Amino acid sequence: MVSLLFVGALVLSLFGSNVQGLGVNWGTKASRQLPPDTVVQMLKDNGIKKVKLFDADPNILDALEDTDIEVMVAVKNVELDAMTNKQNAEKWVKDNVVKYVENEVKITSVAVGNEPFLIDYKDKYINSTLPALQNIQKALDDAKLGDKIKASVPLNGDVYMSPQWRPIPSAGLFRPDVSDQVEDIADFLAKNNAPFIINIYPFMSLTMGDGGFPVDYAFFDGADGIQDGNVEYTNVFDANYDTCVSALKQIGHGNMTIAIGEIGWPTDGNKWANGSLASRFYNGFLPRIAANKGTPLYPRYIEVYLFGLLDEDAKSILPGDFERHWGIFDYAGQPKFNMSLGGKDNKTLVGAKNVKFQPKKWCILKPHETHDEKQLNESMVYACDRADCTAFADGGSCSWLAHCEKTSYALNSFFQVSNQSKASCDFGGLATEVDEDPSKDQCKFNIQIMAYGQSGSDSESPSSFSSSHFTVVPPLALISLSLSAMTSLFFF
Ligand SMILES: *[C@@H]1O[C@H](CO)[C@@H](O)[C@H](O)[C@H]1NC(C)=O
Ligand SMILES: *[C@@H]1O[C@H](CO)[C@@H](O)[C@H](O)[C@H]1NC(C)=O
Ligand SMILES: *[C@@H]1O[C@H](CO)[C@@H](O)[C@H](O)[C@H]1NC(C)=O
Ligand SMILES: *[C@@H]1O[C@H](CO)[C@@H](O)[C@H](O)[C@H]1NC(C)=O
Ligand SMILES: *[C@@H]1O[C@H](CO)[C@@H](O)[C@H](O)[C@H]1NC(C)=O
Ligand SMILES: *[C@@H]1O[C@H](CO)[C@@H](O)[C@H](O)[C@H]1NC(C)=O
Ligand SMILES: *[C@@H]1O[C@H](CO)[C@@H](O)[C@H](O)[C@H]1NC(C)=O
Repeated sequence: MVSLLFVGALVLSLFGSNVQGLGVNWGTKASRQLPPDTVVQMLKDNGIKKVKLFDADPNILDALEDTDIEVMVAVKNVELDAMTNKQNAEKWVKDNVVKYVENEVKITSVAVGNEPFLIDYKDKYINSTLPALQNIQKALDDAKLGDKIKASVPLNGDVYMSPQWRPIPSAGLFRPDVSDQVEDIADFLAKNNAPFIINIYPFMSLTMGDGGFPVDYAFFDGADGIQDGNVEYTNVFDANYDTCVSALKQIGHGNMTIAIGEIGWPTDGNKWANGSLASRFYNGFLPRIAANKGTPLYPRYIEVYLFGLLDEDAKSILPGDFERHWGIFDYAGQPKFNMSLGGKDNKTLVGAKNVKFQPKKWCILKPHETHDEKQLNESMVYACDRADCTAFADGGSCSWLAHCEKTSYALNSFFQVSNQSKASCDFGGLATEVDEDPSKDQCKFNIQIMAYGQSGSDSESPSSFSSSHFTVVPPLALISLSLSAMTSLFFF
């Protein structure tokens, strides 16, 4: 009886109407992909009803056939130029949307580019984004899908800001160098009943400044706020979102639907990135979203896509070592912390099932031997260049290891992404295989999952410049605007 009630409550919290809007970003920049079918089952098991992709990977779209999961596919930034040509856009829609809709994939939107107006892209996509958006929507309309499938452009949170002289959300406006383009995009989206999509990162507010950002203001459990007229803002999310609402109002779109394309909290690679802070963030954010209360200037349902579903150990770490740790699930699809997607209780997430790992073998430095320090260092650099060592970052889960233990960690990381081949655990005689787990406390020496057939998207990536949020953004430039927007919001 008791267990039945428990199951009932769980089902309600996961499938209650509040969850309808919750989506996740499914990025694929990992050295090993979980089989798409496994991930799709995991989405179902957790009641996740929407996914946002960074491309239109056929393997993933095939796995989403005949499910109820709503899908946002994406035109990559590098494809934007081509999409300014009508025939190309038609072909793209035919190959990546029409074909799958016919196969019962529930595609509901197309992201045209990903944060194309990031400051660090300079004006690379400035003239191609709007025409690409128009052509993709036109192609959808021509295919008689325009009513059901909307094109939009996920924009980074630094396209809007509040001016230094009036650092409050109600004074929000668009960044001057892109305001003309953003206005045209907003006009087009409004006319077409499509949402304006923005990515918001309270974590970045906290980590990328001069250290002066008030910690509690990144979360939702009460902080000294800023007063904006009658409204008191007690968290940076509300302030940031409402800055966007105000910027849209300035250009005559005060009542436009605004969706959140990415929001989340990483768990490693930075002193502010760990499971307990991620849990604090999500367990504050999700109940608010579930309650459909929105923000002070937008008091209603907000469509949200969490970033992200899985850790991605091959993402560019130019923005920071935390980049590879945004998953609510780890690289093997297992939950990293407790959270409830329904926002009511901290129910445990359901991990991926039947995950195939490589054998229980690790590679470490040969113990009880003195090693040449230069050779140690060179080996570590070699391994870390080719595998993931972001847990070494200041405050990261393995930052506290001794130098030789770090070397072991690095060698193991390399061994695992090299399919545990004998040759990859040698390093000129330094290394040896062991069958006992060398993990130390929170520093986990992972065993990689079995390699799943190459993911289409990775091999197509022209450079580190594609896909997923602000890949390849020199962090300083990012700070300068988004942070001046956000900290000045607070310190007025
Ligand atoms: C974008 O278009 C404007 C106006 O036609 C032009 O002045 C500018 O050079 C273009 N920028 C790029 C990067 O193509
Ligand atoms: C704004 O949009 C909301 C939700 O779509 C709607 O309920 C409301 O009536 C709109 N307000 C105005 C002034 O158009
Ligand atoms: C998470 O990070 C915060 C801030 O650095 C720290 O105070 C806290 O002890 C960390 N929690 C865990 C479990 O590591
Ligand atoms: C989640 O909560 C359960 C029960 O409270 C606990 O046993 C488990 O260790 C927690 N998991 C994580 C990842 O914190
Ligand atoms: C959920 O997690 C938050 C943050 O860790 C905690 O403050 C809260 O008490 C938890 N709620 C429940 C019902 O366990
Ligand atoms: C090896 O790396 C350590 C730690 O980074 C450093 O202190 C040491 O000087 C390096 N030794 C050599 C020989 O490069
Ligand atoms: C690991 O195995 C996979 C699948 O057989 C293969 O595609 C990949 O190239 C291998 N990687 C390395 C580093 O050997």
